[in-house]
Amino acid sequence: MKSKALVKLLSDGRVHSGERLAGELGVSRTAVWKQVRRALDEGFDIGTVRGRGYKLITPVDLLDTGVILNGLASAVRSQISLGVLDQVDSTNAEILRQIDSGATGVPVAIADGQTMGRGRRGRTWRSPPGENLYLSVGLTFHGGFSVLDGLSLVLGVAVADTLESLGVSGVRLKWPNDIFLPEGKLGGVLVELQGELQEGVVQVVAGIGINVHMSRADDVDQPWSSLARHSPEHSWSRNQIASALIASLLESATIFAEKGFAAFRESWQARDLFSGQHIVAREGEVAGVGCGIDEQGNYLVETEAGVVSIRAGEVSLRVVL
Ligand code: BTN
Repeated sequence: MKSKALVKLLSDGRVHSGERLAGELGVSRTAVWKQVRRALDEGFDIGTVRGRGYKLITPVDLLDTGVILNGLASAVRSQISLGVLDQVDSTNAEILRQIDSGATGVPVAIADGQTMGRGRRGRTWRSPPGENLYLSVGLTFHGGFSVLDGLSLVLGVAVADTLESLGVSGVRLKWPNDIFLPEGKLGGVLVELQGELQEGVVQVVAGIGINVHMSRADDVDQPWSSLARHSPEHSWSRNQIASALIASLLESATIFAEKGFAAFRESWQARDLFSGQHIVAREGEVAGVGCGIDEQGNYLVETEAGVVSIRAGEVSLRVVL
């Protein structure tokens, strides 16, 4: 985003004279005018107030490294290595690259927009710039891949906790880890694994997408929501959500490493979207009523023949309409 410095100055919503902007940006007034044209080309809604200057008409919610770091407790801040990017292929891919290059600390990548956002099952994750939160964290666990059972559900709980701490009501989890509001899907979690670099040490990339300001998504083929759609009266800040989410993810990962999935099972069940619903799995082979998860995070379906457990990574569940 080439016009970021200008847009940041205008983001207070006030009228700024060309002269003042020129001073603040250290450029000529003609250069300010050119930057305004560029910002308009980039999609920002800037108006000219005759004789007074420029004003941002539609508010923007810019990502800001300093604001995100300030929103974190110092114990969390000192653990992470935060990169805030204007645009990237995928924040998950970015973290994988950082792990490959031997990055130290807990790497966290946040992007304003993604050009190749990845969803589960090889799907694309819609990632328009300026609208949503795209965040990935690199987490390290000890004890081999078997210690990761239930981790993706734990991350869903961490996202739900974060949203509730910010005042969002009605958050539900659709097994294994989709984040739902009553209107539809609000976000998702994509866990990608890096091989064991040293024996027993496993690197995990936890990628979270949350729809924040998105108001249109013509190409999304399922009911969806965004925080702005759900609570239009609230002025959502991606920086604030990012700080709260980073803290929650790190805390949950620490508890998970110590106590395993058992510490999260109840929190997950309390938000189970399928509970009591008639559902089918394995392409119709299993049909019954959703009744929560077992100790490993497998989904349980009560059928006429008894309870059947569905493994994460297996066929997805769907509600029978
Ligand atoms: C899903 O399909 O529900 C999971 C979506 C995960 C999207 C996030 S956005 C940040 C991170 N980077 C990606 O490319 N994907 C994840």
